[in-house]
Amino acid sequence: MENPKDVEALDKQGFIPLYYQIQQSLLARIQRGDLKEGDLFEGEEELSRQYKVSRMTARQALHGLKLQGYAMSERGKGTFVTRPKLVKSILMLESFTEEIRRKGITPSSRLLEQRVMRPTPELAERLRVQPTADVLHLRRVRLADDLALAIEDSHVPLKRFPGLEQIDFSTKSLYETIRHKYGLQPAWADEVIEALPATRDEAALLSISRNASLLCISRTLMAADDTPVEFAVSRYRGDRYRASLRVPMLTFV
Ligand code: GLP
Repeated sequence: MENPKDVEALDKQGFIPLYYQIQQSLLARIQRGDLKEGDLFEGEEELSRQYKVSRMTARQALHGLKLQGYAMSERGKGTFVTRPKLVKSILMLESFTEEIRRKGITPSSRLLEQRVMRPTPELAERLRVQPTADVLHLRRVRLADDLALAIEDSHVPLKRFPGLEQIDFSTKSLYETIRHKYGLQPAWADEVIEALPATRDEAALLSISRNASLLCISRTLMAADDTPVEFAVSRYRGDRYRASLRVPMLTFV
C-alpha cells in the first residue's frame, strides 16, 4: 500500500501492545470498507515496513485477526480478509430465516428442488409415515446477505400439511408457513451434528473448494404431540459457521 495516510502512526510509548494497535488499525480499514472480503492483506514484511515494527510483531497482528475470524492464510498466496463466522446457538429451535434475521442479516433462498416424492424406508421411519405416503422434498441454498451459507434438504409429510407443495419456497419460510398457515407450533427437535467434506456439487453451490469442511446438522422436528413434522439435513460452510451451546453443570445429590 503506497498511501501513507492509510497507516495510522503507532503509539510506541504507551501500554497498548504494538501488534494490537496494528490489528485495530487493520480492523478499522475493514470497517471503513477500504479492505473488503477476499482482499489480500499486506504481507508481514510490508506491514513491518509500513508500521516500523519487527516482522514478528506484524505476524502477531495478522494472527490476532485470524483468531477473530477476520483473516485467513493460504499457503503461497498470503493472508486474505474474511468475515467472522456466524455463531449458531444449537440450543435454540429456530428457522434459518429467524436465525439470520436475529443477527441483523438478510436471509434468502435459492430453490433447487421442490417436489412431492415417496419416502425411502429410512425417511418413512424418521417421519413415521407409510412408504406410500406423499412427502414434500425441498432443496434450497440458504443465503445470508447474498452469501451462500448452507444447502438444506427438508422433508415434510404432506398428510399433515395438505397443499404445502403449492407454496413458493423460493421466497417463503417453511417454519412461518407451518406456524401461520397450518397453525402448528414446532415443539422440539432431535439434532445430530457432524463434520463432512464437501462433494463437488456442494462445493460448487457454496463457492468453496471440494472437500472443504461442512458442518452438517440433521434435524427431526417434532410437534407438541411428539409426532415428526420435518426431517432436514443442513450443510453449512465450515469456514463461515460454528455451533455454540451453554452446558449446565451436572449436579450430584
Ligand atoms: C433451519 C433448520 C431446517 C429448517 C429451516 C427452515 O435451518 N435447520 O431444518 O428446514 O430452518 O427455515 P425457513 O423457515 O427459513 O424456511
